[in-house]
Amino acid sequence: MNKPLRIALTKGRLEKDTVGLFEKIGFDCTSLREKGRKLILPIPDANAEAVLAKANDVITYVEHGVCDIGVVGKDTITEMGGKFYELVDLGFGKCKFALAVKKGSDFYSGFGVKTVATKYPNIARTYFESKGMDIEIVKIEGSVELAPLLELADGIVDIVETGTTLKENGLEVAEDIMPISARVIVNRVSLKMRQKEIENLINLIEENL
Ligand code: PRP
Repeated sequence: MNKPLRIALTKGRLEKDTVGLFEKIGFDCTSLREKGRKLILPIPDANAEAVLAKANDVITYVEHGVCDIGVVGKDTITEMGGKFYELVDLGFGKCKFALAVKKGSDFYSGFGVKTVATKYPNIARTYFESKGMDIEIVKIEGSVELAPLLELADGIVDIVETGTTLKENGLEVAEDIMPISARVIVNRVSLKMRQKEIENLINLIEENL
């Protein structure tokens, strides 16, 4: 038998739906359900093993070919870019990128250069460039919603899922930027070298969405 296909899974929000999908396919995901502190988790009946990783690392592992396949959000794919194939939209992990501001405020009023706080500087820059607008970007690692409240920024570019975080902090969506959902990405060389196995897995995934 070939060495197991290695799949990088984004831990956190997408984890439960991804494991659910694998179980729907019929894979025994005991190792993923009872993972403890182990980092490489076998999925024996798929001849695969899973690595649970942060979204950015999923892309890094797949780009470098240390994982053949990854499951990661379109948000991270768009922000990081990279050389890999994006093959399937899994349809879960749905949310959106939006520009949000303090409730009732007009982001575009006044003449000064606007400041936008975000964890996603590339997405923010591209969005405002497409409008021909020069903005200052402040990269934030933690709760971006704090930035307008602290008067650090005029607005934020961030992920909105239920809208609860915005609402509880007196913010509102000013503009939708793009929809987001979980995607399957594949290393370019892996797709050539292990085409059949990967295609089989992709087919199983698509049949069980
Ligand atoms: C994201 C995003 C918002 C929140 C929006 O953060 O940055 O803070 O979700 O969700 P809501 O619209 O349902 O309230 P996440 O919880 O993923 O944590 P993070 O700060 O680690 O990105």
